[in-house]
Amino acid sequence: EQIEKGGYEHFMLKEIFEQPKSIHDTMRGRLIVEEGIIKMAGIWDHLEKFTNANRIIIIACGTSWHAGLIGEYLIEEFARINVEVEYASEFRYRNPIIGNKDVVIAISQSGETADTMAALKLAKEKGAFIYGICNVVDSSIARITDAGSYTHAGPEIGVASTKAFTAQLTILSLIALKLGKHNGSLSNGEFMKLITELDHLPKKIEEVLKSTHDLVKNIAKDFVNAQNFLYLGRGYNYPAALEGALKLKEISYIHAEGYPAAEMKHGPIALIDENMPIVIIAPKKGHYDKIVSNVQEIKARKGKVLAVVNTGDTQVSEMADYVIEIPETSECFSPIVASVPLQLLAYYIAVYRGANVDQPRNLAKSVTVE
Ligand code: AGP
Repeated sequence: EQIEKGGYEHFMLKEIFEQPKSIHDTMRGRLIVEEGIIKMAGIWDHLEKFTNANRIIIIACGTSWHAGLIGEYLIEEFARINVEVEYASEFRYRNPIIGNKDVVIAISQSGETADTMAALKLAKEKGAFIYGICNVVDSSIARITDAGSYTHAGPEIGVASTKAFTAQLTILSLIALKLGKHNGSLSNGEFMKLITELDHLPKKIEEVLKSTHDLVKNIAKDFVNAQNFLYLGRGYNYPAALEGALKLKEISYIHAEGYPAAEMKHGPIALIDENMPIVIIAPKKGHYDKIVSNVQEIKARKGKVLAVVNTGDTQVSEMADYVIEIPETSECFSPIVASVPLQLLAYYIAVYRGANVDQPRNLAKSVTVE
């Protein structure tokens, strides 16, 4: 096992550090920037199914569901196709309206999650075209779907999903851009700009790992005894906030909630005092001014702000108690970059608390029962 961990203390840390490679592997052979194309066999044969779909319904659980929420933002923004995202466990039992003009995408790292599998079967029975985004090759979900794309992130052993999540976001980005280019919603210029940026992501993630690792490791020490955490983000980074909170709670057992930052004033603001740490994702592109006011509201109530900002940021950084800088990228890819320091934060808090990071209590890597 020590050898498999490749010198890292835990699989989770190894998998966090593998992300430049796993994201690169997800795009390999698919993203060909010089030719200005995205080649994806799974989508290629069924492009019209997607672009003529009545709507796309994404079903998933846990982290994969968070990836699905970002998928909704991506596909609606770039391909202008109506997308809904559902928890597989809810979808399967609520007698949903599905027809043969619907495309249902299941996202699952393991490809074995019982609720996702059952929801897919139901969609298939009702005539929908079913598509899988799985990491495990030849898994049950990959086998029952009409078509699909593997994430190729490599085996993920840690129960807390890290590299599978960023690989799912990469695949969803490729799908959204491919569909947008195909149906003309995305201009060639915009498409080229975005694929070039996507191609730079592995390099950026490498930079983030280098520049934030020691810093986050130190910051984490101050939060070992925290009892609650709030994670806030807006737009594309709202699901990233949900994911950051899930990572923390599943491995450190600290209660954490993710929220869209603007929803804070509809309830969670009542929780804020000097004992409440608030992680806020605040990249320059994406509602930055609104985030600045959210931070002012938090500071006025003495909340402790840990901000994830772009390199060189001043406004949020001046108010925050802790600052983690990440490089700038397109707004739609910012959750991929911002998730990395949040994974490290959860990891180190859990390690300092003496938790079993790779196998947290009560959790299984793949949930094959309901
Ligand atoms: C992720 O950190 C969790 N352990 C969990 O939420 C997981 O994402 C969920 O069970 C779905 O798994 P799947 O992607 O294999 O379907």
